[in-house]
Amino acid sequence: MSAEYQVSGSVAVITLNNPPVNGLGLATRAAAVDGIQRALADAAVKAIVITGAGKAFSGGADIKEFNSPKALAEPSLATLIATAEGASKPVVAAIHSVCMGGGLELALGCHYRVALPGAQIALPEVKLGLLPGAGGTQRLPRVLGLEMALNMIVSGTPVLSEKLAKTALFDEVFAAGTDLLAAAVAFAGKVADARPLPKVRERKVDYPNHEAFLQFSRNTVKAMSGPFPAPLKCVETVAAAVAMKFDDGVKFERECFLGLMQTTESKALRHAFFAERVASKVPDVPSDTPTRAIKQAAVIGAGTMGGGIAMNFVNAGIPVILLETKQEALDKGLATIRKNYENTMKKGKLTQEKFDQRLALISGTLSYEEIGQADIVVEAVFEDMGVKETVFRKLDEVMKPGAILASNTSTLDLNQIANFTKRPEDVVGTHFFSPANVMKLLEIVRGAKTGKDVLASTLALSKKLKKTGVVSGVCDGFIGNRMIEQYSRQAGFLLEEGCLPEQVDKAAEKFGFAMGPFRMGDLAGNDIGWYIRKRRYVESPEISYSKTADLLCELGRYGQKTGAGWYDYKAGDRKAYPSELVNAMIVQHSAELGVARRKVSDQEIVERLVFSMVNEAALILEEGIAMRASDIDMVYLTGYGFPLFRGGPMFYADTVGLPNVLAAIEKYAKGHHGEAWRPAPLLAKLAAEGKSFNG
Ligand code: 3HC
Ligand code: NAI
Repeated sequence: MSAEYQVSGSVAVITLNNPPVNGLGLATRAAAVDGIQRALADAAVKAIVITGAGKAFSGGADIKEFNSPKALAEPSLATLIATAEGASKPVVAAIHSVCMGGGLELALGCHYRVALPGAQIALPEVKLGLLPGAGGTQRLPRVLGLEMALNMIVSGTPVLSEKLAKTALFDEVFAAGTDLLAAAVAFAGKVADARPLPKVRERKVDYPNHEAFLQFSRNTVKAMSGPFPAPLKCVETVAAAVAMKFDDGVKFERECFLGLMQTTESKALRHAFFAERVASKVPDVPSDTPTRAIKQAAVIGAGTMGGGIAMNFVNAGIPVILLETKQEALDKGLATIRKNYENTMKKGKLTQEKFDQRLALISGTLSYEEIGQADIVVEAVFEDMGVKETVFRKLDEVMKPGAILASNTSTLDLNQIANFTKRPEDVVGTHFFSPANVMKLLEIVRGAKTGKDVLASTLALSKKLKKTGVVSGVCDGFIGNRMIEQYSRQAGFLLEEGCLPEQVDKAAEKFGFAMGPFRMGDLAGNDIGWYIRKRRYVESPEISYSKTADLLCELGRYGQKTGAGWYDYKAGDRKAYPSELVNAMIVQHSAELGVARRKVSDQEIVERLVFSMVNEAALILEEGIAMRASDIDMVYLTGYGFPLFRGGPMFYADTVGLPNVLAAIEKYAKGHHGEAWRPAPLLAKLAAEGKSFNG
């Protein structure tokens, strides 16, 4: 059973019980319908209360069943709601904690609704590329009015129950600390004889001048929803609540819901929802693995990354000590942090009180003795193995037993770093992305000897810091940078063959990337890639690169920071202007290579940028560097501006079809720099078996 049935006096209590959030899956719906029918058949029962066990009234339809026949099997959600609404005895929804999506739709089908304060009330379907599909778009406007209901449905944002206490959504919002079940049963007893039973469907949607309001909403929502079709459909269905009879509106809503369920955009959002949650699960590190308490942090190096990392701790209320080698560097780092918080305060996003509290949590030092008691220390010094060695040997000396020793290295061998200490089980990689106080991604690098409790503690920390933690094994570049390397290589080869930076960037941006590779290079600094390539020329001479980027760097054109890169920039303006000088240099370089420049289609550009990453990702999966394809998607969605509506590179490849991806790779393997394309065995295998990465 996934709903329990009990009778308390003359009131039947049906408790939805489908952990973790009482999703309204088939078994739960069936049990709830049974419960209502049982109560109706029992002459001793005068009223019915529906509530939820554990941490929710209900989180809505069971998303885990969406891709299975169970989703549409009877009793459907609509049948459950109709059973509650059509019951001849009063049905009271007793709401607490979370009442969302189908859960709220069920509550709206009940005759009465009571709640505890603090319950999150939402129709968040739009965040999954959907709209409420069980009458929510027709009933919510009837209790909240057109404007408020539309805002909730289009944004999906939760509103606390106490804020809605005075609306027709609730009959009563109890005082905090009330025993919900006892109060709901008492309420049900009071209304047991009330007739006729109130039904939301019979209420009118009042809104003077609704047509003008709806037209304004259509225009605004259309402009803001980008490639996602759901928000505009939400407006249309809410409009139907005014224009159509209730049953016609519900039918129209259902058609729109079923249509959206089939869109790639919704599938991508649903994939991302689960991908984010599953990323924190490591098969051999059970969820009850003990974690180490992190109450005090230290950061070594107060540069670009160290400062941002320190801000993360502070924002989560964890005091942090920044350590530098020289007072000047320390002062500079602390001043930058202060300035960042001042800017946030100027934008009105931080009060003076919070600003003072945050600064009070940060201190600086030049002495290792002062950081010895920290529970975690994150090293963010220069990307140089010699410097890392000095730091880790010192940390091994001074840090208390049980402290977590983390490195922010982006390319170096974490196992080697761990072996500089006598406690490699305490060493883990925490690869933050720049700007570290903004970017959501945290690659958590698991070394060969990283302790399970250290991994579990770092995953828990990532949640506390509001990051998406994704576990990566040790390899050059980990998951994200190892893949982006292939993307950058292709971007370089495309220039040799006939493209100019703006064509490549435009094609990538049209595909949905936040920024194309060359505008991104100019923003991040082209010298970073140059530095890495110079190391590779020595360490891995077999890897081919276009030399165009080196020629650019030899001209000192590092990007926005030097006022010139792939593009020209004007002082005080971040806009990229195509550079005649750079474009001439690119054309000249092709001539020197003897490459006849040709017109390259946007489709080829996108395929080469994306499929080169996908092919590398297949190797990463096969080598066990990433645990699952969806983790790779999370890395790209949260750290690299990969378009959300495409669900990440692996999900996108699945959408295109792996045989098509493979065929394209085989074609490019015959072209310019074909040696860069060696189909990954896993990709070839899955394509041959008709399978996909995400199963
Ligand atoms: N169905 C199935 N499982 C769900 C779920 C749902 N609707 N909502 C959450 N879960 C699961 C998560 O997958 C996760 O599972 P896991 O522990 O196995 O990883 C677990 O519940 C906890 O989720 P969170 O980590 O997100 O926990 P929080 O406490 O932070 O948040 C929540 C809880 C507010 C309910 C949040 O999970 C959420 O926003 N869920 C989505 C709710 C939603 O979109 N509902 C609409 C569904 S569509 C619908 O109802 C269609 C209808 O209109 C016809
Ligand atoms: P940075 O050059 O801005 O800062 C490094 C800081 O470390 C400097 O302030 C320097 O004074 C200090 N430092 C050097 N040696 C030290 C020592 N022995 N003890 C204490 N402090 C010392 O470098 P950045 O960009 O912050 O990079 C730091 C680390 O983060 C590197 O490993 C880098 O690969 C990694 N990283 C960088 C990203 C970026 O976008 N900049 C992104 C992700 C990781």
